[in-house]
Amino acid sequence: MTAEDFVAPPDAENQVSLRGLDPDATLKPEIQGPLNVPNLLKVALRNEIEATEIAARWLVTSDDVEVKLALARQVGDEAKHYRLIAERLRQLGIDTSTLDPLAGGWGPLFRYLDTLSTTVERVAAGQFTREAIAVVKNRQFIEFCERVGDRETAALYRDTIEPDERYHHELGRRLLLRFAGSAEAQTVATAAARRTLALAEELQKKALATVGIHHAPGC
Ligand SMILES: [Fe+2]
Ligand SMILES: [Fe+2]
Repeated sequence: MTAEDFVAPPDAENQVSLRGLDPDATLKPEIQGPLNVPNLLKVALRNEIEATEIAARWLVTSDDVEVKLALARQVGDEAKHYRLIAERLRQLGIDTSTLDPLAGGWGPLFRYLDTLSTTVERVAAGQFTREAIAVVKNRQFIEFCERVGDRETAALYRDTIEPDERYHHELGRRLLLRFAGSAEAQTVATAAARRTLALAEELQKKALATVGIHHAPGC
């Protein structure tokens, strides 16, 4: 299979699995307190710092210039998202100086991504798949913000964060075209993408079983 052929089927497969996340229900069980925009933004802070950290770790352990630059761009974007979300929380009256999004340790998806050592697995899981999930989750979060009348947070996601996450997914696609040329690479890439989706689905099931439906944004 060529890399072009490869990128198409997993993409289709991802779309099917992502629809499973769609029913108003992708989410994070770790929200503390009531379901409202500030509490969901606190979950988002953790997602953004985890996305920043994993891209940074991969940047320094890759020796390919194109991969390094893609990850560097992502590190900058995710750190910018963190800052914008923290600013929005302050506007909503939250004292962000006391928040430590990493107080609970790294989450299960981060810990899994941190085990990946090859570029093709990292790109398939961390950019191509994780960012596709983020696009779905952010769309749901924007709808949630609009439903509760928070137009500013909705605009922040629609105009700034969401286009960046879409770009990260496209970076993943572009790099897969380069790195998923062999049958062996395609096998490990598929496994990494599936595991990433499975972890997202596990989080969703846990969310539904414990605290109901949430709409936490992704990155
Ligand atoms: Fe992000
Ligand atoms: Fe992202």
